[in-house]
Amino acid sequence: MSLFFHAYPLARKALFTLDAETAHELTLRRLEQAHDSPFLRKLFPTAPHKPVKLMGLMLRNPVGLAAGLDKNGAHVDALAALGFGFIEVGTVTPRPQDGNPKPRLFRLPRAQSLINRFGFNNQGLHAFISNVQRSSFRASGGILGLNIGKNATTPIERAVDDYLTCLDGVYAHADYVTVNISSPNTANLRSLQGGDELTTLLEALHTRREMLSDRHGRRVPLVIKIAPDLTQEQVDFIADLLLRYGMDGVIATNTTLSRAAVQGLPHAEETGGLSGPPVHELSLTVIRRLRERVGPDMAIIGVGGISAGRQAAEKVAAGANAVQLYTGLIYQGPRLIQECVDAL
Ligand code: FNR
Repeated sequence: MSLFFHAYPLARKALFTLDAETAHELTLRRLEQAHDSPFLRKLFPTAPHKPVKLMGLMLRNPVGLAAGLDKNGAHVDALAALGFGFIEVGTVTPRPQDGNPKPRLFRLPRAQSLINRFGFNNQGLHAFISNVQRSSFRASGGILGLNIGKNATTPIERAVDDYLTCLDGVYAHADYVTVNISSPNTANLRSLQGGDELTTLLEALHTRREMLSDRHGRRVPLVIKIAPDLTQEQVDFIADLLLRYGMDGVIATNTTLSRAAVQGLPHAEETGGLSGPPVHELSLTVIRRLRERVGPDMAIIGVGGISAGRQAAEKVAAGANAVQLYTGLIYQGPRLIQECVDAL
């Protein structure tokens, strides 16, 4: 096993003495530097080889990086070198925005969890596309998902415009596009998961994709990312619309608003989305229901609280075709990728 993996517990100890967002930025910078150095690059692992086909795409293995860790798509190659089967970056919004005031990321170590209220801080679509174009991951056969959202200042009634702007921009550079309608940190975003709002959005995305598909001569899969805090009726409603509008997949799930699993812990009452182990069961329930409702063909990517191979296997047993990691990586380090691949 790579030296890189053995070094993580030590590195984590040092990183956890820093404020969570500072540690996050420092880790990405160091990772990038290590990847740039011909000597240190040799310490990166080779991606575990367990190919799976998903939405017509060939993944090196079914364990991917979840959105939000690399919001600007600035570290695709370095992150890919950790061994992921696919990488998702974003959420990007049409225009740059600062996100919420700091502090906005909190560790709950006793629950191996995080609470974040970043609010889609990002450098905007233009910078995002330049970054992604500079990476060589896709050219070497890697699968890259680009995750799109709306600006905080765009009224929710105009949200569709932002998603279409982003879809137009990222289309040529993506292996798949994720439509994020489930962040709890942008006012009213989650209302897009229901009623006329979802119908209008999916209809618009469907029509625009047909047009882009003709223009580019390539049909890019569209995936919708949903919340864990949905009732069974809401999941059924979403599933039926995904089928009706020919969506290719669904990512289940984003972070949760529930605090049931972390009550009494320091930071538990911070506003934002909770990630890590408390999301696992919630997302499993959503995945099971989705799979029953959408049938065997639609792709389901299971995410939320995977901190060991066992949870990855449970996601797949519940109906997921592939999984993604975020918070587990922060607590377990990159060896979690290999462990999950082995468990699947
Ligand atoms: C996220 N997540 C996220 N998702 C997304 O679609 N767009 C985003 O910008 C972000 N940003 C983000 C920031 C931080 C700090 C965290 C912890 C999470 C959600 C993430 O992709 C994933 O769906 C959830 O975190 C659940 O998975 P884990 O973290 O429990 O493995």
